[in-house]
Amino acid sequence: MQASDLYQPEVRDQFIDQAHSTYTAAEHRVWDILFARQSHILRDRAHPDFFRGLAKLSLGRGGVPDFAVLSEELYALTGWEVRAVSGLVSDYAFFSYLSQRIFVSGRFIRRPEQLDYLQEPDVFHDIFGHVPMLANPIFADYMQAYGEGGLRSLEFGALHKLARLYWYTVEFGLIQTPEGLRAYGAGITSSAKESIYSLESPDATRQAFSLERILQTRYQIDSLQAGYFVIDSFEQLLNTTLNTDFGPLYRSLASAPEFEPDDVAYLSGKILLELYQIRCIVRLRHVRRKKANSFSRIINRDWHDRHLSR
Ligand SMILES: [Fe+2]
Repeated sequence: MQASDLYQPEVRDQFIDQAHSTYTAAEHRVWDILFARQSHILRDRAHPDFFRGLAKLSLGRGGVPDFAVLSEELYALTGWEVRAVSGLVSDYAFFSYLSQRIFVSGRFIRRPEQLDYLQEPDVFHDIFGHVPMLANPIFADYMQAYGEGGLRSLEFGALHKLARLYWYTVEFGLIQTPEGLRAYGAGITSSAKESIYSLESPDATRQAFSLERILQTRYQIDSLQAGYFVIDSFEQLLNTTLNTDFGPLYRSLASAPEFEPDDVAYLSGKILLELYQIRCIVRLRHVRRKKANSFSRIINRDWHDRHLSR
């Protein structure tokens, strides 16, 4: 990817003016309501770096953020900027922007009656959900690496596989911290329901991060997630992405089985040990019961023999 790609018509022409001054008071109010609600719900649920990003970028200063101001502050932190687009951009353009450390966002905001659910991403999802994590230097590098990997995936015809990595990390990623499980994915942090469900519901599965497994796992776009992947650290995410040669991986996975979101592949060593111990105890009890039964059968036979012989 060359810097000059940004000047290709397909890429360049998708930016629009945010027209920040045209947001109405009602639209700014929707941002403020969502911001207050999510900031409260995410306490002890979102990763601390999410809150650091919110604070560093002053996303709670009131109303829909001005992308020009936000970009200046974000650029000073990690070299990223935010540009407005009118809707979905092409895959090539999306990856090109990421590889150039440009995050694209819709400018529209949901209506007051849509506070709880909106299928397409609005400015609250894009900015409140995604941008705080771009203030984390490691995560910022991961997003760029993802963009570069995305461009390569187009050459391999493997876009649908790499999209799963974005889905299960950038959108719906969980991370293990010393204080417990936390959310960092924008699809979680921008949603009141998913913020709670992803961390606390017994209906959802949560399995350890595995790049290969994620590339083979389908996802659902119109409901709460059935399964999540948990990283140990943002370094793990970045290093795995940087150190993987995706070409051979795509080829080796082409004929490998695919999985549903709630199929669980990996159990932790501790859980495996516990399962092994439970299995041993059950087998031991089974053997004892069999011995006891056969012993009682012998006693009974002896008893019968003795009494029948009389
Ligand atoms: Fe998103």
